[in-house]
Amino acid sequence: MENQQIVISKFGSANTLTLRDGALPSASAGEVVVKVLFAGVNPIDCKTRAGMGWAAAQNKDKLPWVPGYDMSGKVVACGDGVTQFSVGDKVCGMIGFPLRGGAYSQYVAVPELELSRIPDAVTYEAAAALPLAGLTAAQALNKAAVKEGERVLILAGAGGVGHLAVQIAVAAKAHVFATCSDANLDYLATLGATAINYQFAPVSERLQEVDVLIDLVGGDTALDALKCLNDNARVVTVPTLSADLICEKAAMLGFDATGMLVTGNRDQLETLLYMVSVGLLKIDVAQTLRLREAVLAHEAQETGHTRGKIILNMQC
Ligand SMILES: NC(=O)c1ccc[n+]([C@@H]2O[C@H](COP(=O)([O-])OP(=O)(O)OC[C@H]3O[C@@H](n4cnc5c(N)ncnc54)[C@H](OP(=O)(O)O)[C@@H]3O)[C@@H](O)[C@H]2O)c1
Repeated sequence: MENQQIVISKFGSANTLTLRDGALPSASAGEVVVKVLFAGVNPIDCKTRAGMGWAAAQNKDKLPWVPGYDMSGKVVACGDGVTQFSVGDKVCGMIGFPLRGGAYSQYVAVPELELSRIPDAVTYEAAAALPLAGLTAAQALNKAAVKEGERVLILAGAGGVGHLAVQIAVAAKAHVFATCSDANLDYLATLGATAINYQFAPVSERLQEVDVLIDLVGGDTALDALKCLNDNARVVTVPTLSADLICEKAAMLGFDATGMLVTGNRDQLETLLYMVSVGLLKIDVAQTLRLREAVLAHEAQETGHTRGKIILNMQC
């Protein structure tokens, strides 16, 4: 049996991703082996491949390294002591975050604690697209303690994290404003947000009296958005590279500001999967590419204009 996988052999452009036939994993105690059907692509996969950020620094002496944190698939083997899964179960999860990764592989050994069962009404595609982006959206909104009736501004509402954050905030009965380009105005309106075209004018010229800012863009865009906020507003800035700068400026202006790093949380992921299963949360899969098209997937992700998520079909 083959185990095709995508590896980073050296840091660089998307073209440095290579396909190889890896060893088949076996399940140690507490682990299951999953036949991966779909893997989700996230901006951190591209940043790490380019040699940027914490995961790249930690893995630089361990190349070749298999990237990828999001996956869905079927359990094909269980190690000693596994209690919650059996062969044939449909599972998904955010695996090995941020150090181990490994989802861009047709078979992967995963601690059972990192996995959730996929409800019948949820597709493998949606289950692979959801974990990292969904957990980030939920954790950012929780950190900001968004309440019913509050005015919440989400920068990059159409992206992987954004389209889920918009829907969760709408479900919490917040009044949601979200920035996007011309191409995504109608899309964001269908999710229940008031869409603001950032190409038309800076958001600070279009919106005031915001209680909560969820920043998914960072840099100057986030600094401009601080001008929209009420006194005592809360700010959660998600891109790690500019988080210190945004938090410092926000604190100077009297706002309660914090960065964040998403963490695995099985209960939270299962709540999100339930929301998907009953139609409360819709995952937009913009593109499904084949495992051997991982280079194209990274190039598309790096345009910075993906609507929803890109996933890889790992078995073709
Ligand atoms: N700290 C953490 O734990 C953590 C976790 C997850 C993600 N992140 C970071 O959070 C950021 C968002 O992640 P993601 O997965 O949502 O990224 P993504 O899917 O690549 O975001 C793409 C979206 O960004 C929008 N966009 C681009 N420039 C914009 C601008 N100037 N204003 C408003 N929208 C803009 C695009 O909309 P248009 O096409 O309409 O422009 C597109 O829909 C990334 O920097 C990622 O690395 C951090």
